[in-house]
Amino acid sequence: MPRTPAHRSRVGSAALAAAAALLLGLAPAPAAQAGADGEKAAPTLHELADRTGRYFGSAVDNPELADTEYANLLGSEFGQTTAGNSMKWDATEPRRGEFDFTQGDEIVNYAQSKGLSVRGHTLLWHQQLPDWLTSGNWTADELRSLLKNHITNVVTHYKGKVVHWDVANEIMNEDGTYRENIFYKTIGPSYVADALRWARAADPDVKLYLNDYNVEAVGAKSDAYYTLIKRLKADGVPVDGFGMQAHLALQNGFPNQLRQNIQRFADLGIDVAITELDIRMILPSDTAKLARQADWYGQVTRACLAVERCVGITTWGYSDRHSWIPGTFPGEGAALPWDENLRHKPAYDAISAALSAAAKKEDRQH
Ligand code: G3I
Repeated sequence: MPRTPAHRSRVGSAALAAAAALLLGLAPAPAAQAGADGEKAAPTLHELADRTGRYFGSAVDNPELADTEYANLLGSEFGQTTAGNSMKWDATEPRRGEFDFTQGDEIVNYAQSKGLSVRGHTLLWHQQLPDWLTSGNWTADELRSLLKNHITNVVTHYKGKVVHWDVANEIMNEDGTYRENIFYKTIGPSYVADALRWARAADPDVKLYLNDYNVEAVGAKSDAYYTLIKRLKADGVPVDGFGMQAHLALQNGFPNQLRQNIQRFADLGIDVAITELDIRMILPSDTAKLARQADWYGQVTRACLAVERCVGITTWGYSDRHSWIPGTFPGEGAALPWDENLRHKPAYDAISAALSAAAKKEDRQH
């Protein structure tokens, strides 16, 4: 498989960090640390992913940082995080023209203290918009100017601190038509290209993504993004990646042709990321459901690993202790690879095994 410079630059940062630590006489990285019984500690998911040139991350919401046991494990096991809520419009511009980055900065500071990269989420979405915006009766020009001002301020504030931005989140319906959000209804579809251009103007280096759920399979919704991104690229609009959220549910079936779907987006010349992975089930969980869930986590991980430009995987939280699912889908849950007590579930082992196989293959090739 040809390795791109981008890939090489992503490979081996764990190895480099370990070498640098040795040179500086510092303690070795946790993966190389001997346990009390003399056994080597298992490598973390991110250390394994890093050996393939990818990251493995988990989203986090601000209140969860107060759970120190949870926050410490997040900081040691993962290499990337996404702010679950605190970079959304209602949090960052609660009053027109008044920006508040307190909560988002808390996530960035935490991430920096643990050495995690940060995905910015999200510059525009139809949910979690402030009342002043949704209750206004804006002309197209007015809303365009509000959107530009929001994007410019938020991206400028986080310049150099986030590596990816979900510029536009969930802008398509299931049938592949544009979602009739406030931006579409007021401005028309051109808001998407404009949003990407304004984000690029504010930070030339951050990777700009479109992001959505139910786009993991080949189908009307992912087709719509494929067509849109192809056209944006042809028009010279800055779009760098496509985020597949991957909020999956055992009862809904595994997304068909996931790997092929990731590949066709990569073939457009963009990156792909799995951005919000979780796999819920109807409660109570049992051994069979947990085994099926593990199989799916393994399949998603291998699908990403099979595509050169699939740059990483982020789970939407990592433990059943903190998850959005029970609140949104009553009677469902148990969606994450760690249980409420922060113990590994079979899903963890499946992810680890998939990453480990790819890491060993990568090691042999270099
Ligand atoms: O901030 C208020 C707080 O003031 C109030 O006391 C409390 C009472 O319920 O609610 C708080 O707001 C909640 C917010 O999370 C912050 O915690 C909302 O009720 C709650 O609905 C909101 O849920 C978030 C959801 O997006 C909103 O749709 C979830 O935490 C967040 O994980 C979820 O994330 C989305 C991604 O952004 C996009 N993809 C889907 C994903 C899951 O829905």
